[in-house]
Amino acid sequence: MKTSFRLDKYLADMAVGTRTEVKNMIRKGLVTVNGEVIRRPEYKVDIEKDRLQCGGRDVVYQTHVYYMLNKPSGVITATNDKRQKTVLDLITDKERKDLFPVGRLDKDTEGLLLITNDGELAHQLLSPKKHVSKLYRALVEGCVTDEDVKLFAEGLKMDEEWTALPAELKILSAGPESEVEVIIYEGKFHQIKRMFEAVGKKVVALKRLSMGTLQLDGSLQPGEYRPLTTDELEQLTALTDHMDTKG
Ligand code: URA
Repeated sequence: MKTSFRLDKYLADMAVGTRTEVKNMIRKGLVTVNGEVIRRPEYKVDIEKDRLQCGGRDVVYQTHVYYMLNKPSGVITATNDKRQKTVLDLITDKERKDLFPVGRLDKDTEGLLLITNDGELAHQLLSPKKHVSKLYRALVEGCVTDEDVKLFAEGLKMDEEWTALPAELKILSAGPESEVEVIIYEGKFHQIKRMFEAVGKKVVALKRLSMGTLQLDGSLQPGEYRPLTTDELEQLTALTDHMDTKG
């Protein structure tokens, strides 16, 4: 992994300012490396060894970044696309070029999506062996019944090769259109929609509310995002460290 960067890039990556702003700060003598004022923006710093301060305050390099996005409907879960808007187009923090979404939500699905550049955490969260829970709220055409709850809990047989893992279905309201919450422990393509199809019903709106310990921040409007808090990140990392790896 690359550990040496230009001083101006380091500071801009850590959102001290834009590249132009941090160059000005450096030239004004506001930045020190290991206690010594450095006035050259191109000066190389080592993120593992060097200690940086700007205006007397420590600036610690963070290799990984983590954002919680409330994905809106109509945006695809991809890093870039020539024609369609992607979830990464919503992240206006453009200093990072290595961000990607952890897992996939359909174009018409809303809700919690983790965006990061931490490949190891993403791998852990998505590993089929870890059975990380995902909670969804869905609006379903048709009357969801206690029989459906039982079938979901037993593990729905989806096709010859795939029987879904037991899932927790909770009916919030039942009628010609039903509102439900579902917790699944895997993440197959169109999984929730296919599970309802398997019991003869159609999902008409879907929103993810949580993934493992990470819960969608209710104050984020669709399309808005924020960095994870230290607590959220620690809980998520602890979760993947302690998850059952048997299955
Ligand atoms: N299940 C689905 O059917 N779609 C999603 O976007 C997520 C889970």
